[in-house]
Amino acid sequence: MTVIAIDGPAASGKSSVARQLAERLGCVHVNSGALYRAVTWAVLNAGINPGDETAVAGFVHRLPVTMTASGGGAWIRVDGHDPEPYLRDQQVNAHVSTVSSYPEVRVLLTAILRGMGEGGDLVMEGRDIGSVVFPETPYKLYIDAQEEVRMARRAAQGEADSVRQRDKADSSRGSAPLQVPEGAVVIDNSELSAEETYAAVCAALAARGLAGL
Ligand code: DC
Repeated sequence: MTVIAIDGPAASGKSSVARQLAERLGCVHVNSGALYRAVTWAVLNAGINPGDETAVAGFVHRLPVTMTASGGGAWIRVDGHDPEPYLRDQQVNAHVSTVSSYPEVRVLLTAILRGMGEGGDLVMEGRDIGSVVFPETPYKLYIDAQEEVRMARRAAQGEADSVRQRDKADSSRGSAPLQVPEGAVVIDNSELSAEETYAAVCAALAARGLAGL
């Protein structure tokens, strides 16, 4: 099983790189942030205070959440529902970092993410993929860009998302914080186009011996 782990802060361009790579390699693309968002949406939907760690952990423990690979994508179901339309809601953006900071939530979701590897090759993006979820993979990338550039990208997408606060929370939490994983190739794309970023990523992976690019 080959896993390409792509980590980095919000709006760094991880998703477009991950999607293109998975398509090129003919493997499954997993956006792990979507799983954290789906659970956050369920917490809010159930009327649970996202700041109440005990209540959130207990709820997520009982929550039937699944992720299934199909057609090159990874499909999430929460209690039988497709959470996709709600994943980028302002309320989800505002609370996802809090919910994902809870160690018990991370243990549950990390197990689901690792399980995705049993079905075959993956490109997985997130915050702790190269450091915690698949630390053994030789194919680790950390995509970064200056904060102003990332904030401008999000704003251009028309989304209300406090990128700065999420990054701060995601990097400073005790459990699996956002960090450059050991052995990762760091690519700062502040001044690169999407095409240039993808080319830099392919070059880095080819230099590590990944075939098929
Ligand atoms: O990739 P994203 O911006 O959609 O992720 C949303 C949030 O999910 C992010 O702010 C922190 C959390 N997350 C995480 O804690 N660990 C991951 N591997 C992926 C996302």
